[in-house]
Amino acid sequence: MATFINILNKKVFSKEDIICLLAAKGNNQNLLFEKSGEILKQNIGNKIHLRGLIEFSNICIKDCLYCGIRKSNNSQKRFVVSEDEVIKSAMNALEKNYGSIVIQSGERTDKVFINQITRLLKQIKSLSNGKLGITLSLGEQTLDTYKKWFDAGGHRYLLRIESSNKKLYNKIHPDNALHRFDKRLEALYNIRKAGFQLGTGFMIGLPFQTIEDMADDLLFLKKIDIDMVGMGPYIEHEDTPLYKYKHLLVTKKERLELALKMIAVLRLMMPDINIASTTALQAIAPDGRERALQYGANILMPNITAGNYSDNYNLYEGKPDTKKNITEDSVNAIDVRMMNINKMIAYNEWGDSKHFYNRKTVLNYYRN
Ligand code: 5AD
Repeated sequence: MATFINILNKKVFSKEDIICLLAAKGNNQNLLFEKSGEILKQNIGNKIHLRGLIEFSNICIKDCLYCGIRKSNNSQKRFVVSEDEVIKSAMNALEKNYGSIVIQSGERTDKVFINQITRLLKQIKSLSNGKLGITLSLGEQTLDTYKKWFDAGGHRYLLRIESSNKKLYNKIHPDNALHRFDKRLEALYNIRKAGFQLGTGFMIGLPFQTIEDMADDLLFLKKIDIDMVGMGPYIEHEDTPLYKYKHLLVTKKERLELALKMIAVLRLMMPDINIASTTALQAIAPDGRERALQYGANILMPNITAGNYSDNYNLYEGKPDTKKNITEDSVNAIDVRMMNINKMIAYNEWGDSKHFYNRKTVLNYYRN
């Protein structure tokens, strides 16, 4: 007991400390959540920033073994949202005073796609008079493409490393040039070089993943001095190769608890970064996202994709669908949900990563 509290109060955590925190159960787990909630309040306050999520397309050139929209999944209907509809969703976010949007898509690297995104960024920037902050989550691209998108108006970029353990990464991805761990690392480096606030993250509770791997994942974030993180529980998808390892998984509830502990420990380790409360948390428990926001997360991403496309953005089973989200995440409803946990939505603010600016003054990563 005493040792657990000693660890909790540390400022710097060893791998052993992190493993001990991630293994916490019962009373210790509650102590961890209390502490991370306090650190969150001290550093971020009770503000929640919104990112209106636009799922642009589920067409993907990648074949990740866990993902429902992988290229080889023929049972997946494919869509691309029209440019008009993306603009409409963005303007909808603006009207609702969301402050920021995220444009997310299956991965494509062809010219048509790159130019389409560039066009959309410029249009959204100009139509919103620069008021909407824009996060991109569009996979591995070249440095030139990242620069192009940054110049067009994106300023935050999220690319999950999925697992920082190269061996585990290789187990959950096909063995070919499109899916190389080192390329993913290089992409992260290039995103930062292009000027973006950098985000990454993992899936938690993957087959073959150990608690040591998870501790290493958190240390990886510290090492690369990340600005933003989005991580959530792995949820098996029937139409993917990884599904055959279903028997190796801990229960969904345990994966949720692990994900919440990862968020809490990360908040202790990196008090001023942005941490997203991801959709996958809610897919396991209705209050999953709220719990994450109490224990360490400060970003919420309501789905605002126009139309019914998102029914086909099936990354994993049980992903909450858009129609439901429109009601659940309608502005008043999230206001009430946040008030119930003593949080306040910060409307009309970008809600950039404080860590980015704290670091920028030192390393001079500069925009404009
Ligand atoms: N379970 C949980 N998250 C998943 N993702 C993809 N497939 C799954 C799954 N089965 C996440 C990955 C990816 C993001 C787009 O969705 O982390 O980066």
